[in-house]
Amino acid sequence: MVKDLKAGRTPAAHLGAQAKQRSLHNNYLTLPVIFLMLSVHYPLAFATQFNWLIASIIFLIGVLIRHYFNSKHARIGKPNWTWFLALALFVVIIWLSSFSKQNTEAIILNESSAFYQNEKFSEVNDIVLSRCSMCHTKEPFYEGVGRAPKDIILDSEVDIVKYAKVIALQSGYSSAMPPGNITYMEDSERQIIVKWYLESVDNKS
Ligand code: HEC
Repeated sequence: MVKDLKAGRTPAAHLGAQAKQRSLHNNYLTLPVIFLMLSVHYPLAFATQFNWLIASIIFLIGVLIRHYFNSKHARIGKPNWTWFLALALFVVIIWLSSFSKQNTEAIILNESSAFYQNEKFSEVNDIVLSRCSMCHTKEPFYEGVGRAPKDIILDSEVDIVKYAKVIALQSGYSSAMPPGNITYMEDSERQIIVKWYLESVDNKS
């Protein structure tokens, strides 16, 4: 359109209308986008089988909130009904997110024995005790760590079974833990953890 204007031609009007529509979409999608960007830090928002439904509802809530403020700022009234609807939808989200809890507990209990009985268990136990438990224990003896980070305690066999999946995720599949590989965990140790996890899960199913 700018090119057309500069060249003295009449710009195509439909492009302007399109741009305005995109701007409107942008305006309405701001809040859900921010929510989704931050949500990765909060398992409450994503750690359920209904996360796709929760995300969809967040879009509706975001649109409702924008609608309220857009109306208010344009001085065409305060649609207070949007607050009630947003609140009702939020209650639905809380309800949906509560489902995962029972499921995860069941999963932990079901899978436990396979993790424990796997032949690599004692090796994994040694790795975790030597690489993780100085921080992840009730009274950490790693300088600067006052209490077990995120209250995750990894200093007994039961803990290792209980946290098998996060151990595999944080220190097997990824090298998120130990932070900055501060306790010099070897790649071979990470591989053992992944194998232990996969074999145990396979065994279970
Ligand atoms: C030097 C201390 C230290 C060591 C050693 C350490 N961690 Fe951590 N861990 C932390 C800190 C600090 C956090 C919190 C990180 C955060 O808040 O993002 C954490 C968080 C975690 C979490 C929770 C992650 C989350 O965001 O939910 C898990 C799981 C975990 N560690 C597992 C391990 C495992 C497995 C090992 C050993 C392979 C290990 N950690 C070794 C300090 C440590």
